[in-house]
Amino acid sequence: MKKGFLVKFLTLVAGLIFSFTAFADTFEGVGKGYGGDIVVEAEISNNKLTAVKVKEDSESDFAKIVIQQIIEKVIAAQSVKVDDVAGATATSKGIKRAISNAIKKSGATLTQNEQASAVKAKSAETDVVVIGGGGAGITAAIAAHEKGAKVILLEKTALLGGNTNYATGGINAAGTKIQKAAGIEDSPELFMQDTIKGGKNLNNKELVKVMTENSSEIIDWLVERGVDITEVTFSGGQSVKRIHRPTGGVAVGPVVVSGLSKVLEKEKIDIRTSDKAIEIIKKDNKVVGVKVSGKDGEYTITAKAVIVATGGFGANSQMVTKYNPALKGFGTTNNPAIVGEGIEMVEKVGGDLVDMKEIQTHPTVVHKKPYMITESVRGEGAILVNRDAKRFINELETRDVVSKAVLEQKEGSAFILFNQEIREKLKAADGYVKKGYAVEGTLDEIAKQLGLDAKTLKETVSKYNEAVKAKVDKEFNKKVFARELLGEKFYAIEISPAVHHTMGGVRINTNAEVLAKNGKAIRGLYAAGEVTGGVHGANRIGGNAMTDITVYGKIAGENAATYSKSVK
Ligand code: FUM
Repeated sequence: MKKGFLVKFLTLVAGLIFSFTAFADTFEGVGKGYGGDIVVEAEISNNKLTAVKVKEDSESDFAKIVIQQIIEKVIAAQSVKVDDVAGATATSKGIKRAISNAIKKSGATLTQNEQASAVKAKSAETDVVVIGGGGAGITAAIAAHEKGAKVILLEKTALLGGNTNYATGGINAAGTKIQKAAGIEDSPELFMQDTIKGGKNLNNKELVKVMTENSSEIIDWLVERGVDITEVTFSGGQSVKRIHRPTGGVAVGPVVVSGLSKVLEKEKIDIRTSDKAIEIIKKDNKVVGVKVSGKDGEYTITAKAVIVATGGFGANSQMVTKYNPALKGFGTTNNPAIVGEGIEMVEKVGGDLVDMKEIQTHPTVVHKKPYMITESVRGEGAILVNRDAKRFINELETRDVVSKAVLEQKEGSAFILFNQEIREKLKAADGYVKKGYAVEGTLDEIAKQLGLDAKTLKETVSKYNEAVKAKVDKEFNKKVFARELLGEKFYAIEISPAVHHTMGGVRINTNAEVLAKNGKAIRGLYAAGEVTGGVHGANRIGGNAMTDITVYGKIAGENAATYSKSVK
């Protein structure tokens, strides 16, 4: 009897110790993400992954959402063999590697959960359906909701933001409170002139007028909804400081996406990620909904109005080459999901297209890599030098001009050179250094690493500084100068152009209504953002994409909501 009791007691104690240790089993794992190491602590008990905590990461705001999505998927599947999130593959791989390393360390063998979800997709009915959850789509969804419409927002990837998550420089606006406080004189008319000059006069003037006239108001609209926009600076092709950005020069796109995502969440707008619109439905000469291929199967959304905000086609090299064969072989700065299917869907319901061959390359993209070096680095005073260690262009010329000049240099690339002051002023520049894109050191050390002539490089910098002091650039006629390039510490990144923005797309009017080939609006169909054409003409000015997507996103949302009230 006594012996039996002792055995039971010892078994109970062992059980308690075992379960206590099982709960306490956490293992650290590290994986390299986009911004650096991601460090996790994985909780594993009885060969089961029960939780993952991120201890350290340097990923951007939007990528943090990806980290949480991947963690949830891995725990549900009990396996790291889950799909990457499109547009954030480096982060996806980094977090999976970190978890995998933690599992390895634990010695556990997880049993993969292969049970497929039994949820079936259901058809739905709404006032307004927005296709595409990038900056234009998010803005449109909020604007339609605020006008009283019931809204469904479809996003084909697992993540909101699209190409907007990659937008770095800022958002152009004229006559803003921020400009006024800084003593900058500007007007929608001057903004319009710059936009049309940059676009080589191919722009649809009415669309530009509406964009520029609404630009100051859209900054207020964003700020009122919690988006941090406090600074203004120079950018290519602008006569005055007009590109607005978050505090400290943080990349604008993720700040807009995360700010507006909070509004979507707070307002409980129906967001369907990983649900892709595959067809716009048109009946009796008006658009009445969309067909969706979603995570839970195919279904139909009956809607009074549809807004297409799917972005351009910059990541679809076949489509790029179809419309502009000269760009064969070029890389891209775009989110891989930006492949132009919205344009094709609109064409199928009779929508007209405009300016399709007008495709912009961004001049400063890390050579042979998809990482854009924002124009703001040049806006803050960086210069471009070639393999002869000499400047070759006004760095703040429009993108087409700078891209062409870079391609004309030896080996079709050049170096963007900036100093410590610019790194400290601009978060994005600091990020490029941290990500390892730059070589760094004194001008002598940089010249040595890049194989440039040090004496010439130093002469180039001091000649440039003289031009800044005199405010006259005799060599390249630069008109605006942020600062001299002084100090001991410099950074240089090899750059070349890559496909950046598709200026052509769906033809719209100033109400953001999609036009048919006969010039008439297609009832119930709206479009906004890079999926549309006409605003930017032959060349988009840096900072105008954010203005375009938000101004026309808001117009599309409001008008679609109003229209939806007028139809049965
Ligand atoms: O250079 C950039 O930051 C890009 C901005 C833009 O395309 O508008």
